[in-house]
Amino acid sequence: TSLTDFAFGLPKAELHLHLEGTLEPELKFDLAARNGIELAEKTVDAVKATYDFTDLTSFLAVYYPAMNVLQTADDFHDLAWAYLLRAKEQGVVHVEMFFDPQAHTSRGVPFGNVIGGYRRAAVRAESELGISAELILCFLRDFSAEHAMTTLMEALPYKAWIIGVGLDSDERDNPPGKFADVFARAKAEGFFLTMHCDIDQVGSVDNIRAVIEEIGVDRIDHGTNIVEDPALVALAKERGLGFTTCPVSNSFVTEQMKADEIVGLLREGLRVTVNSDDPAYFGAYVGENYVALAEQAGLSQTDLVQLAINSFEASWLTPARRAAFV
Ligand code: ADE
Ligand code: ZN
Repeated sequence: TSLTDFAFGLPKAELHLHLEGTLEPELKFDLAARNGIELAEKTVDAVKATYDFTDLTSFLAVYYPAMNVLQTADDFHDLAWAYLLRAKEQGVVHVEMFFDPQAHTSRGVPFGNVIGGYRRAAVRAESELGISAELILCFLRDFSAEHAMTTLMEALPYKAWIIGVGLDSDERDNPPGKFADVFARAKAEGFFLTMHCDIDQVGSVDNIRAVIEEIGVDRIDHGTNIVEDPALVALAKERGLGFTTCPVSNSFVTEQMKADEIVGLLREGLRVTVNSDDPAYFGAYVGENYVALAEQAGLSQTDLVQLAINSFEASWLTPARRAAFV
C-alpha cells in the first residue's frame, strides 16, 4: 500500500533498538553451527513457536538464552550488520543501538569481542550504507549496581565508541535509584543518559518521575505511562524530553499497542518517536512499526513526518550533524 511505501521511504532515526533483539532464527542457526553449539529447536518454525510472550518477563526468558550463540567479535559484527542491512531497507539513516554487554561478559565472553564486533559493523554502515550508527551501552537492571559500575569501568577504554548509557531488563524491584551512582559517573564521563520505563510496570509513573527528577536522563525508553501524571507530562514537554515508543513490542508485552497514549503525547507536542525494540522477536522492524501505529490510530502522512522529525530531534546527533537530516 502507499502508506507502507511512504512510511518505509521516510528518512528516519531509530533510537530504541536492542542489537541482541535483532537475532533472527536463520542467523542463530549459522552462528550455532560456526561455534559448534547444539540448539534445542531445529527449525525456524520451532524457534518461532517459542515466541509466546505474555509479558516482559516471559520475553526476557527467551531473549537471554538465545545469546549463547554469540561468542566471537565476528559473531557480534554479523549480528549488527544483518540489522543494518534491514534498517537500510526501512529508511533508517541514523541509529543509536543498545547492546547488553553483561549478558555476554557474565557467560565468559570478553567485553572487547562484543564492542569490537559491533563497532566494526557501525563503521562499515557509515561507509557502505550511508547510515550513521552509534552504540548505547545498556546495564541490566536485575544485576547489581556494583556489576553495572564494573561494566562502566570496562567500557571506559572504548569511550569514543559509545555515545550513551541505558538501563534495561526486568524493571520489577529494580527502580532507577538503584543505579543513581552509576549514572552520575556515566554523566561525568560525558555519556548521554537514557533508561527504560517499561509499559505498565508496578510503580511505572514513579519510576518515570525518578528518571526525570533524580537521574536527569536525556531521553526515556517507552515511558508512555507518563500520561497518568499531567504535571509530569508538562515537565517532560518543557524539557523537550524524547520518548522512544515501540508499538508492536507493546502489543506483545501488554497485549496492546498503547496507540492512544503514544498518539495523545504526540498531539500534546511531546518528542515522541517510534522504534522497533527487539524486531526479530516481535516480527516488525521500524518501518513496520510506523505502519502498525498509523493503521491502528489512523495517522496521516503529516503525522508520520512529525514522528520522523522527532526521531532526529530526540537523537544524540550533534547540532551540526542533525542539521544534515532536518
Ligand atoms: N531488553 C531487551 N528489550 C527490552 C525491553 N523491551 N524492555 C526491557 N529490557 C529489554
Ligand atoms: Zn527496549
